[in-house]
Parts: sequence; structure tokens; C-alpha cells
Amino acid sequence: MMLPVGRRFSSLVLTEGGVELRRDAVRPRDRDPKLLLAPTLVGVCRSDLKEIAGQRAVRRDFGHELVADVLASDPPGILTGARVCLDPHPVVERTSGFAELVEISGPEGDLLAALPRLPKDLPAEVAVFVEPLACAVHCVRRWSDARPPARPPASVAVVGAGMAGCLIAAVLERGGAQVTLWNRSAERLEELRRRDVLPGIALRSLREEAAERFDDAIVATSTLVRDVFEWAAAHLRPGGNLVLYAGTHPGMDTVPGVDVDAVRRGQQRVRMPHGDAWLVGSHGAVADDFRAAIDLLADTENGLGERLRRAITRRLTLEEAASVLPEQVEHAPFGKTVVAFDGGSATALPEAA
Ligand SMILES: NC(=O)c1ccc[n+]([C@@H]2O[C@H](COP(=O)([O-])OP(=O)(O)OC[C@H]3O[C@@H](n4cnc5c(N)ncnc54)[C@H](OP(=O)(O)O)[C@@H]3O)[C@@H](O)[C@H]2O)c1
Repeated sequence: MMLPVGRRFSSLVLTEGGVELRRDAVRPRDRDPKLLLAPTLVGVCRSDLKEIAGQRAVRRDFGHELVADVLASDPPGILTGARVCLDPHPVVERTSGFAELVEISGPEGDLLAALPRLPKDLPAEVAVFVEPLACAVHCVRRWSDARPPARPPASVAVVGAGMAGCLIAAVLERGGAQVTLWNRSAERLEELRRRDVLPGIALRSLREEAAERFDDAIVATSTLVRDVFEWAAAHLRPGGNLVLYAGTHPGMDTVPGVDVDAVRRGQQRVRMPHGDAWLVGSHGAVADDFRAAIDLLADTENGLGERLRRAITRRLTLEEAASVLPEQVEHAPFGKTVVAFDGGSATALPEAA
């Protein structure tokens, strides 16, 4: 199908003070090839909330946890009819992902890299976890690469039981690690138990006394904070790795003497300034991580997709998202919030206004 130039659609866009719902129209292709996506479901990530709050210094990925159908392309035939997610790392131009339609353009190879195909029979409520799970897979690979070869299964402390920490814990456990997921608030842990999202993983409160030591630790709190970092460092065995996954920004001084943002984004492995341990950075995901995440979620035997589905706690329309997402900046509820669209198939294009 050719691009339906002029077709009107609604989208949630970032503004100086937050977000606004806007009516827009499909524009013709400029120089590079262009695709038109119809999202079915879009997950809300902590980074979306940081972008609404104007707290994200480096990148703009608004609405990147996408499950969408490719409706049209110019030139015709690029992925048309495919169901895709979005890998936000290849550099392409795109409009907001929280939208009835998403315009995305770039060299054809970059478009193909940015839009990994999803199996058609993967439910959208499971597929919406592909991107965050790919980042978790990447983190676990960074951790695994940092370990000496042929070591026995590790005991790993994951700190922060938001979706990021939960996904990392699930991937680690599948790889044979003995995982303890630590969280500040007991309520979040209670909700994970109640919904049975992570059976097999020990859930513990950071407020309880913990005398044990772990081979390695991964910090996945909303942002990298000093007391969490110090807790993780204090609970490492000699020679352990402390993986930085939680958001950092340039100039952050959480660890005196260490440029934590450079370590995380540059995916470095450096010695900690004190003690016998290592700091390891994890940032983003690559094509292999997306393939692994899709395989994990498509494999119904392991039950991961169904368990994650139970962690979807809010389903919003685009209109509702315009008022609810700014509220979540200050207080993000337990679990995954998704924005759902009735359309999303080639036969259900939003009507032209
Ligand atoms: N490295 C990468 O490639 C990558 C990819 C995706 C995401 N991330 C990052 O991963 C982080 C986690 O994402 P998310 O979506 O899971 O975030 P989230 O929903 O904000 O939840 C993170 C957890 O952080 C805890 N927390 C917040 N502030 C805390 C503090 N001061 N002390 C102790 N715990 C605290 C919360 O505990 P309570 O229950 O007590 O509130 C919550 O369980 C974010 O920084 C995100 O940017 C990194």
C-alpha cells in the first residue's frame, strides 16, 4: 500500500511542560524511504516518564515499546503487512510512538534494523515486553562476559524490582543463576508475589538486615542513587561485578572518582575505587538480544510471556494516557502500563477526518 498522505491521526507528543494530544496528518516521503506503522499496544517505560518530566539529557525515545503493524511504505513493499516492534538504537527519524499512526523514515537497511519482525501469533500483551526484555538480555550478557570462564552458577543480587529489575532477574534465573531481587518498598514485592510474576526468585526488602554476600550485583533502580550503590557494593564478594543498569546522566557523582555515566553508556568494566570489585556498564540492546527476547517470549513452555502479562496493570486509551502519564512521573504504579489501540491491522486504519 502507498502512503496515505494527508490521513489524519492523533498522537501524544512531548512539549516544554509535559505532553499534549495532537492531531496530525501523514506527510509525504522526504528523501529517505518511509514507513507508516499502526501501533496495537505501546508500553510505558521509565524513560518515557523521564522525557515527560524533561529529565532525560541524552536521548529521545518517546513511545519505543511498540507492537505495531506496518501499514504502508514508500517505496512500496518494505515490511508491509509485517508485525514489528521497535529497536530504538539504529538511527532513524520517527514520530511519537504513542499515536494512532507512526511515521518512520531512514535508509532501508536502518529501517529493517529498527523494526524487528514479531511472530504474528505472539499476543500483543506479551510482545510489548520484547524491547525491555532485549535490554535485560543484553545486561545479562554484559554480566556473563564479565565473569571468569567456567565458574559455577553465581548468586546474584538484583536491586530494584521495577519492570527492569524483574526482567533481568527472570533472564538470570533462566540462565541458572541463583537470584535474589531486592526492593525498597515491601508493597511492590507483595504485588509480585500476589500475581506470581517471578516464581523461583527470592524477593527481599532492602530494609531487612542482610548478612549474606553475593558473587555479583545488578543495580536497576529508577535512577542510580548512592545508598543503593553502597548497599550493593557492601554485599559483594571479593572479585565480584557490580553492573550499572539504572539510569545515569552526564556529570552524575554517585560514586566519587568514577564517571558512572561513561561506565554505563560506554559499557566499560573498571575497578572500583575501593575494595576488590568491578564496575560494569550495560546500555541498550543489539539485534541478537532482540532475537533472544522474541524467542524467550514465543516459547510458551517456559511460561515467561504469560507471567509478564500478569504484570500489565493499566491499559489506557491515548486520550487517557495524556492525563495519566504525567501523573505517573511522580508516582509510577506497580507493573506495566500500556496504551492500547483498537486498530492495528491493515483492515482497521483509523478513519480520515
Ligand atoms: N541500561 C539500559 O539499557 C536500560 C534499559 C532500560 C531501562 N534502564 C533503566 O533501568 C531503570 C529501572 O527501570 P524501571 O522501568 O524498572 O524503573 P521504575 O519502574 O522506576 O522502578 C525501579 C525501582 O526503583 C526503586 N527505587 C526508586 N528510587 C529508589 C531509591 N531512592 N532507593 C531504592 N529504590 C528505589 C523503586 O522501588 P520502590 O518500590 O520502593 O518505589 C522501583 O522498584 C531506569 O533507570 C531505566 O532508565 C536501563
